[in-house]
Amino acid sequence: MDKIVSLSKRRGFVFPSSEIYGGLGSSYDYGHYGVLLKNNVKGQWWRAMLQERDDIVALDSAIIQHPRTWEASGHLAGFTDPLVDCRTCKLRFRADHLGQSACGRKPSKHPGETPECDLTESRDFNLMFQTTVGPVKEEGSTVYLRPETAQGIFLNFKNYMQFSRKKPPFGIAQIGKSFRNEITTGNFIFRTREFEQMEMEFFVPPPEAGKWHQHWMSARMNWWTSLGLRPDHLRLRAHDDDELSHYSSATSDVEYLFPIGWSELEGIANRGDFDLTQHAKFSGQKLEYVDTATGDRYVPYVIEPAAGVDRAMLAFLVDAYDEDEIEGEQRTVLRLHPVLAPVKVAVLPLVRKDGQPELAAEVFRELRDHVQTEYDEGGAIGRRYRRQDEIGTPWAVTIDHQSLEDQTVTLRDRDSLKQVRVPIGELTDVIRGRLSEPWRSPKLDA
Ligand code: GAP
Repeated sequence: MDKIVSLSKRRGFVFPSSEIYGGLGSSYDYGHYGVLLKNNVKGQWWRAMLQERDDIVALDSAIIQHPRTWEASGHLAGFTDPLVDCRTCKLRFRADHLGQSACGRKPSKHPGETPECDLTESRDFNLMFQTTVGPVKEEGSTVYLRPETAQGIFLNFKNYMQFSRKKPPFGIAQIGKSFRNEITTGNFIFRTREFEQMEMEFFVPPPEAGKWHQHWMSARMNWWTSLGLRPDHLRLRAHDDDELSHYSSATSDVEYLFPIGWSELEGIANRGDFDLTQHAKFSGQKLEYVDTATGDRYVPYVIEPAAGVDRAMLAFLVDAYDEDEIEGEQRTVLRLHPVLAPVKVAVLPLVRKDGQPELAAEVFRELRDHVQTEYDEGGAIGRRYRRQDEIGTPWAVTIDHQSLEDQTVTLRDRDSLKQVRVPIGELTDVIRGRLSEPWRSPKLDA
């Protein structure tokens, strides 16, 4: 994890937030390459939800919703973590995570393990951030930052019934920020207080819920592996009854083998009719599907695949991180799936003279119309390759003296390190072709 954190900062993927003020715990800012990688992850999710299917529509709902939302959803009463305070070191811990927490005075021990530790009884602490709407804090002005994007989808169910002409089974998908006042944080971007979720609520006839739950478990596992995560680092784990959220009758987590051990990447839950029924009760509105032909009506069940964008990024970075040796020199390389790589092609003139930069600039202008491309002419060619390897750029195009004679360039592959000569006129098609080929992590064969 330390290596990922350091590379992320060094190469402009992720910075600790508010660093000039000493940082704010568990808050991170995404730099240039982090934004590009994150956009690619989200783009692939939208693609799988919207472009490759015809039974899902999109939504972007508000972060601050009517406060009754959270009464109906059960978050106001039940979205809590059990907490204990230590009267000696004044730190606060999750009662159910004491074994993973470090004592404030003796970090080699867990809270409660030293004679000086003086822990309070455990009490429940709500994870939702509160704020107020309007200039005066008065009764009725308290609102919450959403702790999951899912509720915005349920609040809009009626709108979609009216406008989208969809009937169950169909889904509504959304990506957006969620907020939780987490007590146990740390582990870089694995668990933060502000994070992005990619959630899809799939509304189905109740008797089909089991079948669709299975469908989404396998579809989501395939999505993660199709983007290069090594299958032996991924598993599906069904929740025990005592782990289930208040709304779920069955949940399975997609877990990834992070440096901190097997941990949740995505949850795939059967939420039954809990949310629509609750919102119908609290709002007084009918939230059901009515078959206009037969007059049949029912409240659909919901199957929900819910993934975290930041956690996905961490998994892709961890899975991609590799070190090898080229000609006796140590190399750090991100073996990202090319469709996720922040930059697809680097264009590098071998030397900064003899017309090479001018020709390289032409090649750069042609390629950037099609894929994210970077131009770099500064420093020794080896150093420039290393830099692109560290940000995961799958291909580098080098313009040399021969390029000016025969209009060909060398195309270097990040993983195999093979270099081939390609006519400049064919470069765009060659890169596009490579981008659409299936990709397999070379770490699987190492
Ligand atoms: N709507 C269901 C729901 O929110 P969840 O398991 O609490 O379920 C779904 O969250 C996903 O959101 C998780 O699998 C994880 O990837 C991500 N996530 C949840 N809390 C997070 C946090 N504090 N920091 C980063 N990601 C988080």
